[in-house]
Amino acid sequence: MRRLPLLLLLPAAPRRPGAALLSHRAAARASQPLENKTKEKLQKKICQVVLDHFEKQYMVELGDTWTSVRDVLTYPLCWQYAILMNKFSPSAELESTLLEKGCHPAFQGPLPYLPASLKCYIRRTPGRFTAQKHQPGKLKEYYLLNAASLLPVLALEVKDGEDVLDLCAAPGGKSVALLQCAYPGQFHCNEYDELRSRWLKQTIESFIPDPLVNLIKVSKLDGRQIGDLKSESYDKVLVDAPCSNDRSWLFSSDIQQATLRLIQRKELSCLQFQLLRSAIKALRPGGSLVYSTCTLSKAENSDVINLILHSCSNVIPVDISEMAKALSQEFTFLTGTQQHELLVLPEKGRAWGPMYVAKLKKI
Ligand SMILES: C[S@@+](CC[C@H](N)C(=O)[O-])C[C@H]1O[C@@H](n2cnc3c(N)ncnc32)[C@H](O)[C@@H]1O
Repeated sequence: MRRLPLLLLLPAAPRRPGAALLSHRAAARASQPLENKTKEKLQKKICQVVLDHFEKQYMVELGDTWTSVRDVLTYPLCWQYAILMNKFSPSAELESTLLEKGCHPAFQGPLPYLPASLKCYIRRTPGRFTAQKHQPGKLKEYYLLNAASLLPVLALEVKDGEDVLDLCAAPGGKSVALLQCAYPGQFHCNEYDELRSRWLKQTIESFIPDPLVNLIKVSKLDGRQIGDLKSESYDKVLVDAPCSNDRSWLFSSDIQQATLRLIQRKELSCLQFQLLRSAIKALRPGGSLVYSTCTLSKAENSDVINLILHSCSNVIPVDISEMAKALSQEFTFLTGTQQHELLVLPEKGRAWGPMYVAKLKKI
């Protein structure tokens, strides 16, 4: 008999007991340990040293907006999760369960680029769904993610047959999403970190069928070298850069590690700049790249892109404001950004992001 998907919904308010949204009793029993595990995770303490650091920086950069963003980031019980359907393992049953549970398709507006094959469900209320376990030989039906993570993928506008490089690819969420949108000619997924590279391989195997997996090249290179190694080889490059991951850093359990991260934070923009320079080299003239981070930090977002635009005469900004306009129902964006960039701000009921996206074209 086909296994029904397990769906969990955590309470919107902390004192209410968790309610499992399950299709049958057996599923409810099976989900119990997961529910407890998820609750434990959500009860993690905020790391004060990180919060103090963010408080100082983001009050200056975002003003009053920071207060409402902080309220979302520091309160995991209001976080939302999106469900990206895997077109290579379609499940009509899962889709109807999601609709029954109050989910709706995430991208409904007239977007400049929205392949029909990309299906993602979200729900206005907070809640977490169980992730499917990796089972060798069996494709997963869905991938859980922050809905804002799909914006860099949509901004890249990959078409069938294009040669694509995902420069910093692990754990592979955006690689999987890219393959929901189009069938690239060549698809190169790179991840420098050994452990995370294994995770990336496993994600690809869990979501992508064999004949296609064989066409995907996975490498473990320093992304800064790829520009020289694969000069002018790609039509599209995604630079989902290593960054200060605001959401997860706030819940660092190890204070020493958090302190070290904050000290090393200043070096991230240099690494991001070098990765972008490498990505530009790897692009064919006429090709485009999308740069993304999951931090609010100006130093890692607009400052890096402005520096690239000032120092590389062969790139121009690409206007993505139409995309932001079409998504303004579902996402909250920072106002006053330039046309080639957007910053998703988490807000109650639209707790997506932080996600910075910028698009550039090589001339
Ligand atoms: C934000 S994460 C990427 C998330 C991924 N795109 C996804 O959607 O699942 C950034 C990744 O860059 C990797 N990274 C760090 N330094 C790198 C480098 N020099 N070259 C390539 N990847 C690097 C990190 O190990 C990390 O896995």
